Amino acid sequence: MTDTYLNLVNSGFTKKIAKQLGLPRPVPLRRHQPGRPLVDGPVLVLGTGEDADTVAHVLAGTAALSGASLAPGWDLDVRRHPAQGERYAAVVLVLTGLTHPDELAAPVLALGSTLQGLAPHARVVTVSRPATPDDGPAVAAARQGVDGILRSVAKELRNGATGNGVVVADGVPVTAPSVLGALRFFLSARSAFVDGQLLAVDSDGGSLPLDWDRPLDGRVAVVTGAARGIGAAIAETLARDGATVVAVDIPAAGEQLAAVANKVRGTALQLDVTAEDAGTRILEHARTRHGRLDVVVHNAGITRDKLLVNMTPDRWDPIVAVNIAAQLRINEQLLTSGDFTEEPRIVALASTSGIAGNRGQTNYAASKGGVVGMVRATAPLLSAFGGTANAVAPGFIETDMTAKIPAVTRQVARRLNSLQQGGQPVDVAEAVAFLASPQAGGVVGRTLRVCGQNLVGQ
Ligand code: NAI
Repeated sequence: MTDTYLNLVNSGFTKKIAKQLGLPRPVPLRRHQPGRPLVDGPVLVLGTGEDADTVAHVLAGTAALSGASLAPGWDLDVRRHPAQGERYAAVVLVLTGLTHPDELAAPVLALGSTLQGLAPHARVVTVSRPATPDDGPAVAAARQGVDGILRSVAKELRNGATGNGVVVADGVPVTAPSVLGALRFFLSARSAFVDGQLLAVDSDGGSLPLDWDRPLDGRVAVVTGAARGIGAAIAETLARDGATVVAVDIPAAGEQLAAVANKVRGTALQLDVTAEDAGTRILEHARTRHGRLDVVVHNAGITRDKLLVNMTPDRWDPIVAVNIAAQLRINEQLLTSGDFTEEPRIVALASTSGIAGNRGQTNYAASKGGVVGMVRATAPLLSAFGGTANAVAPGFIETDMTAKIPAVTRQVARRLNSLQQGGQPVDVAEAVAFLASPQAGGVVGRTLRVCGQNLVGQ
């Protein structure tokens, strides 16, 4: 799906007119291409203390991790103090030791001094810790303050730059796989449409990949609703990252499904996810064709919008059946099979509608809010096997689903975020791939929004 307005305001004469009229001028986002550098320029690490030094060493490729070996693939040009006139590609603000709001001014104003000269598509990433129930009011105030700062900075950034944060649970070192994995994801072009988000790392679970470009090597992943849109992009992205992919969709989408499966050199499974034995059939297919099952992405989803005043069971029931009841049933079958036990990953598609609510979508929001709750409660069931369940909540993504929205509403909806544009299916796919990866093993039961910092909801 194309965004004609975005193309217009970035080309020649119409670019000039848009500037003169003060119209929103979204810029095309930089997206991941294997082989390209993680960031295009110097990275400034702000903050004092051991954690800031450690993060700086990791980014520079001079820290020994997991025993004696150096974490592969960082080697960034790291600076520790802002220099006038320097153009940073990223600023990492390490704020893990806060005990009072008075301590915020120095590092945050230092960040402020760099903003005007940030490179296009720059990244601002905070690394902080949440307050624990034992912390006093001053500690809690300082740590919660980071939340407000990050979300506000993200709204001030321009030129495709984004701001996101990693919130590291008490007792988890900043060198934990998921802290580094999340930091790398937020620094990279993989997170192009993730903005204003704070991702919690709950444990030091997971492991660093041998190759950051192929973290899913040797893993077998099932993607439901893979015949088109976001599902097809997820299948391609997981395959690019090394996974063998089983693409699932309804028989009516069989031709498109086969094309996707061929493209990713995986296999196709024609299956309605609402079938009673869907989980068993998925597992059977993955095991007989590929020997194992490691990752399940619940992407299949439908909408039937209607104001609640006009809602009928034929518009409510199928939404709940496809978008959440099927996922619950499939998970149950996987969990009781005894064959989904080697650091398994479940990643489910929620929606910002399920978090912030959306007019005309009570049915859809019930199912997508349900996904947020489901992953939270499913994650502990997988933890004994080193497994996780997490969700990705897309905002406005350019797909067949959103192409059905009336033109004017669509035009407005895609501008209502800090990046002033809709995301692409690949943006959602990148977040799914991160949560499916070994380095995300410490992110447990969370929902990551891919919405360009949508102006509604948190
Ligand atoms: P889409 O409508 O383009 O594709 C959905 C796919 O799911 C289709 O291939 C369809 O055949 C398949 N599917 C539907 N029912 C199925 C069933 N019972 N069994 C197996 N497959 C089935 O949708 P899109 O836009 O790619 O969305 C993918 C997911 O992302 C959905 O869960 C959706 O709710 C979610 N989402 C999408 C957003 C967007 O802006 N496009 C925003 C927020 C969430």
